[in-house]
Amino acid sequence: MTKPKIMLGLKLPTDPRWVNIVEKNIEDILTDHAYCEQKAASTAISLIVGFPEYTELVQEMIALVKEEISHFKMVHDRIIENGWILGRDRKDDYVLQLITFFPKGGSRTTQLVHRLLYAALIEARSCERFRLLSEELEDKELAEFYRKLMVSEANHYTMFLGFARQYGDRKEVDEKWQNLLDFEANIMKDLSKKQTIHG
Ligand SMILES: [Fe+2]
Ligand SMILES: [Fe+2]
Repeated sequence: MTKPKIMLGLKLPTDPRWVNIVEKNIEDILTDHAYCEQKAASTAISLIVGFPEYTELVQEMIALVKEEISHFKMVHDRIIENGWILGRDRKDDYVLQLITFFPKGGSRTTQLVHRLLYAALIEARSCERFRLLSEELEDKELAEFYRKLMVSEANHYTMFLGFARQYGDRKEVDEKWQNLLDFEANIMKDLSKKQTIHG
């Protein structure tokens, strides 16, 4: 069977051995994953608050909040089913490093474009990792769970990148996107060693 190629522009694929680390730490990965979904919902809300004049974006972010919080519930339900309790959030080294790439400040549009590109990339990497889990996990039921989420995150990636290109200058945005992808690949070189979604 040929595997679907979903590289989403990412320049460095995740080392498949990351799945072995995850498999030994399902409780940890579900906890980390739950917070990724919750943060995705928070990001959508903060884009609404920060950029209310972008009507089309606001509408899409309302829909996204609902979808991401429903993902959070799906993960939380699994945690409960296993007899676990949601643990505390941990800092996400990947995201913290990623969001240092673009300089602070600039016009509102520039700031929005940067926020949208960060969001697109985080969705893309999540999608790539969910794909890997959907293909490699021994637990086929959990693999199917990740396959469904992979499809959602791919759509979010497309939406965020689309908005960045729509609101910013297309050529400039594409250049920034490529540079951000290079930067992200460098971050990833030092990661893929932990039972976290991005780390
Ligand atoms: Fe999600
Ligand atoms: Fe998402």
